[in-house]
Amino acid sequence: MPKPKVFVTRRMAQIALDLISKNTEMTVWEDDQPPSYDILREEARKSEGLVTLLEDQINEDLFKDSPNLKVISQMAVGFDNIDIDNATKRGIPVGHTPNVLSKTVADCTFALLLAGARRIVEADRYVRKGEWKSWHPMAFLGKDVFEGTLGLIGLGGVGLEVAKRAKGFDMEVLYYDIYRREDQEKALGIIFNDIPTILKRSDFISLHTPLTPDTYHLISDKQLAMMKPDSILINTSRGSVIDQKALYKALKHKIIGVAALDVTDPEPINEDDPLLDLDNLIILPHIASASVATRTKMALMAAENLLAGLRGDIPPNCVNAKEL
Ligand code: DGY
Repeated sequence: MPKPKVFVTRRMAQIALDLISKNTEMTVWEDDQPPSYDILREEARKSEGLVTLLEDQINEDLFKDSPNLKVISQMAVGFDNIDIDNATKRGIPVGHTPNVLSKTVADCTFALLLAGARRIVEADRYVRKGEWKSWHPMAFLGKDVFEGTLGLIGLGGVGLEVAKRAKGFDMEVLYYDIYRREDQEKALGIIFNDIPTILKRSDFISLHTPLTPDTYHLISDKQLAMMKPDSILINTSRGSVIDQKALYKALKHKIIGVAALDVTDPEPINEDDPLLDLDNLIILPHIASASVATRTKMALMAAENLLAGLRGDIPPNCVNAKEL
């Protein structure tokens, strides 16, 4: 019996590719840049399974063109690049990789928080530019993290792990989520609040919501104006949860203190984006889950989801399992 054809849109951990290639006729896109939409569509047309990443647009036109497609397996927890309703309508399960990355993303969130508070990136640039001439009592004064107030918007796997880390820094943790977590309130001593209260009271605000129509530009002019003038906004969720034009104004005019972003809209950010001229912005190229161990686990999970879907089973981590 011929093996099912599978297209993997980027090279990933070899152990996962070996597992896939043992069971399928696998094509891997070898370029570091993603395949163009036309190439992706052409490959999807020939395939029964796709392993995708967050830059791959899996939309209605692609589904229409791909009659053999049995499963989409996304190597990410987020799946806002995939038209899930359309996949469901066609009976196609969509796998993703929840939980395995929560701790790694939380570590990076905390790295951004600390870097923003203690001006780490700015100070590094200063040394490299040869500007370090003496120890000065007023140089690079930052903001203490310990005993500060952290506001979490979204308390899924990552938000929860960030809360745990914050407790190690004796922080007060406020959170908002569409689901109230009284068990975690008791276990961690975190406090549920509405978003405006969190924005007004927090020294640090960290975003952990998925991107949905409800969370698109959740943080815009009005919300930024509610935040403390020295507050630090961290985003490791999705870029368009923040209205970036509003963020630029808020940073430029010191409405807030610092933004530390792992994600932007668009990605990659345009080279001439005015945000990049600001000293009170820290920016990473969407690497919060990038540890060797976690990216290996994510790739293996994606491989397992893919193979289950190809067998006609519901993948173990399936976004639309209930609707199929
Ligand atoms: C995800 O998994 O959705 C992250 O953004 C990439 O690790």
